[in-house]
Amino acid sequence: MKVSEIKKKYLEFCKKNGHVIVPSDALVPDNDSTTLFTGSGMQPQISYLLGEAHPEGARIANSQKCFRTEDIDEVGDNRHTTFFEMLGNWSFGDYFKKEQLRWIFTFLVDEVGLDPKKIYITCFIGDKSNDIPQDFESVEIWKKLFKEKGVEDVKVVELGTEAQGYKKGMQGGRIFYYDASKNWWSRSGRPDKMPQGELGGPDSEMFYDFGNEHDTKWGKECHPNCDCGRFMEIGNNVFLEYIKNNDGTFDLLPKKNVDFGGGLERIAAASNDDADMYKIDVLKNIIVKIEEISGISSEKEKFKFRVIADHIRGAIHMISDGVIPLNKEQGYILRRLLRRAFFYATKIGFKQGDICKLVPQIIEYYSEEYPKVLENKDSIIQEIKEEEDKFHNTLVKGLKKLEKILNNDGEISGKDAFILFTTYGFPLELTLEIVEERGLKIDRDVYNIEFEKHRELSRTASSGKFKGGLADSSEQTTALHTCTHLMLAGLRKELGNDVHQVGSNITADRTRFDFTHGEKVERKVLDKVEDYVNGAIQNTAKISLSRMSKEEAIEKGIEGSFWERYPDIVNVYVIEDMKGNIYSRELCGGPHLGDLSEIKEKTFKILNEKSSSSGVRRIKAVLSN
Ligand code: ALA
Repeated sequence: MKVSEIKKKYLEFCKKNGHVIVPSDALVPDNDSTTLFTGSGMQPQISYLLGEAHPEGARIANSQKCFRTEDIDEVGDNRHTTFFEMLGNWSFGDYFKKEQLRWIFTFLVDEVGLDPKKIYITCFIGDKSNDIPQDFESVEIWKKLFKEKGVEDVKVVELGTEAQGYKKGMQGGRIFYYDASKNWWSRSGRPDKMPQGELGGPDSEMFYDFGNEHDTKWGKECHPNCDCGRFMEIGNNVFLEYIKNNDGTFDLLPKKNVDFGGGLERIAAASNDDADMYKIDVLKNIIVKIEEISGISSEKEKFKFRVIADHIRGAIHMISDGVIPLNKEQGYILRRLLRRAFFYATKIGFKQGDICKLVPQIIEYYSEEYPKVLENKDSIIQEIKEEEDKFHNTLVKGLKKLEKILNNDGEISGKDAFILFTTYGFPLELTLEIVEERGLKIDRDVYNIEFEKHRELSRTASSGKFKGGLADSSEQTTALHTCTHLMLAGLRKELGNDVHQVGSNITADRTRFDFTHGEKVERKVLDKVEDYVNGAIQNTAKISLSRMSKEEAIEKGIEGSFWERYPDIVNVYVIEDMKGNIYSRELCGGPHLGDLSEIKEKTFKILNEKSSSSGVRRIKAVLSN
């Protein structure tokens, strides 16, 4: 089946079951600055999963564009792509396990046409340390569903860990229990990795059996989570019903949610009964075009073809969603994608300009579902062309620099490789190849550490550039903005006047606040800061705006950062209660609440505090009912 057919069928199926179909969000999340890209369908739905009412009701579904940066280096095998679409449906406290598992199984078997005998299931074994029970309920539902489709003798096997899986193997099982490292889902992984305030839950995953022979290089025995290629995960039913408390324990959320996500391209691969994702229509078309331009068979250069096809498709969607090649944040990833694609393209005989020939058909493919891609056609081609020109221009200079380092030092450090990338735009692959040709090696770990450091620094710098750091001007975001002022004042009261804001980013869900301080802030201090903010709310303090000259504001000791960015006459927001207690006086462009009585039912909570970069701490805080 074609990717577009599966998508259409899925959305129609969800609609039939009472879901409202919502559009895909952009690849760059606008309400979640904790990640560079939307990496799963649930990310744009976080606030609804936490309890806010969705305007379209309690059942929604869509196909979400996703990008997983962590998979860039994995691309080249038959199953990894950086860009993909995730089919998703959500229940915000509406239906639960029984309905979800029946629907998705019916969809896969009756609509996509998968053989039920080739579907294998995993379920959560429970987590005693966090008092989270084993998911017997899902197992019972699955047994019934298989039976209805004529699959008898459904055997349930307890594997627990992945290591046990490799040791004990299939044992004739169809349903397998694994622990939290495999069958628990949250944005940050298993329960102990979750930050406070994060939501997560046990999941039940579905795997398709391609029937390949097990490769013992992965482990003695095969099992559903084995990486040998026999099984591929095609969907994940997450029962998002827990939230992590400040003390590390887990509470049930007020409502039980379902978060289903299934990789569209993976389901398409299963429907083809061929594990090679690059054989599905959308990717195959690109591979064929690359063959045409290079005159080489893709069979000969599988890795390079796949990297080019994946990266150029991802780059097109990124540019269409407003990313441009830069040396930081999303732009950094785009630059890396494009330059890797250019590099491998030159290796298979592409001439400068040839790569742009791949673009029109990819745009055409997505034009109906994502009209923005078509609208932005010219700028997409332009960006790619310009980046390619830059790449070829710096190639010569970069090669000279590399030669010089090698001649002087006889080796190249990870740091050198990193500088070659940031200054000359040399992808690591290119540096590696040249260095390895001479029988030398690069310390990849050092490169990766430098890369992370650089990214962290550029993130902090850019969040500081945010005017007021507000994602929107909704009431909740504005309220959190006012509370952020109170929090800074509270922090300065507790920790001293060396505390200043470095950056802030505020959405309707939370405030993320970076400030100068050299060490961890203890929980009891954070509690006092919370009390300070909540005290101002309880005393229904008022917010007033006064305008004064910058000098006057500095003289009066008004708190402010980024003074240089403000005009000569500045706005100062003062938060003061009826008795004349001043809680905060801060330079700011607004917007703010008029009066804290507007949020008197709410409580300010600091969820966590951690290091952001050297000398900078980061707090995440929320306003809850
Ligand atoms: N959020 C779940 C995932 O990404 C469905 O796997």
